[in-house]
Amino acid sequence: MADIKSPEAIGKMRVAGRLAAQVLEMIESHIAPGVTTDAINRICHDYIVGDLGCVPAPLNYKGFPKSVCTSVNHQVCHGIPGPRRLKNGDIINVDVTVIKDGYHGDTSRMFSVGKTGVQARRLVEATREAMHRGIEAVRPGARLGDVGYAIQRYAERRHYSVVREYCGHGIGLEFHEEPQVLHYGRPGTGEELAPGMTFTIEPMLNAGKRHVRLLPDGWTVVTCDHSLSAQWEHTILVTGTGHEVLTRRPDEAF
Ligand code: MF3
Ligand code: CO
Ligand code: CO
Repeated sequence: MADIKSPEAIGKMRVAGRLAAQVLEMIESHIAPGVTTDAINRICHDYIVGDLGCVPAPLNYKGFPKSVCTSVNHQVCHGIPGPRRLKNGDIINVDVTVIKDGYHGDTSRMFSVGKTGVQARRLVEATREAMHRGIEAVRPGARLGDVGYAIQRYAERRHYSVVREYCGHGIGLEFHEEPQVLHYGRPGTGEELAPGMTFTIEPMLNAGKRHVRLLPDGWTVVTCDHSLSAQWEHTILVTGTGHEVLTRRPDEAF
């Protein structure tokens, strides 16, 4: 069961969400051919700690060695920043989670490196829209299955597959709380949503088959068929009438 946040906790979640969003805004201008994923990590870390006064939640989380996740091309999620240099045409997800005043804000987005191909662009855009469809399904009285169904239906109509092994999650004082937010499902099933719940929606869509495997580094998830994968993530609050996107950036409509 998802817990219901107090008004005080919701205020702190709003702050954490806004700060996480700022990290993605900040990093955009640094994404370019030749930049290493380690450099992206370092710039994010210094901004999170030095400018925002936050703690980067991934660092040392269950042994994760870096402050953000960077997942390139056929990497699905949880990529570890390292010496790899971005090249023209790559797509990369940067996943940022900050802790402020004990509360977590978790958000990720795709970036294009230089000029990407039409297939990569279509996948990235469809994944953003799939996340958006899931968010639009969030309101009191709806069920988690409605959210998953909205995402899956949109993705599969576009002939993309939805990764099953990783999901969204409740979030608050803990990084990963109940409930699990599946990105597939059947309408009218699952936990009923109520005002004050906070959770992430973070669909991963593959251009090929949905199957994934874990690399020997113990973290990086890749598509089995090496097809491209994309992911976008927001932290969402269920409000009295619908939802609030706590990690919304100023350029996003919602
Ligand atoms: N930010 C990821 C999520 O959306 C979790 C990363 S866990 C880490 O849930 F250890 F890989 F950082
Ligand atoms: Co998350
Ligand atoms: Co995340």
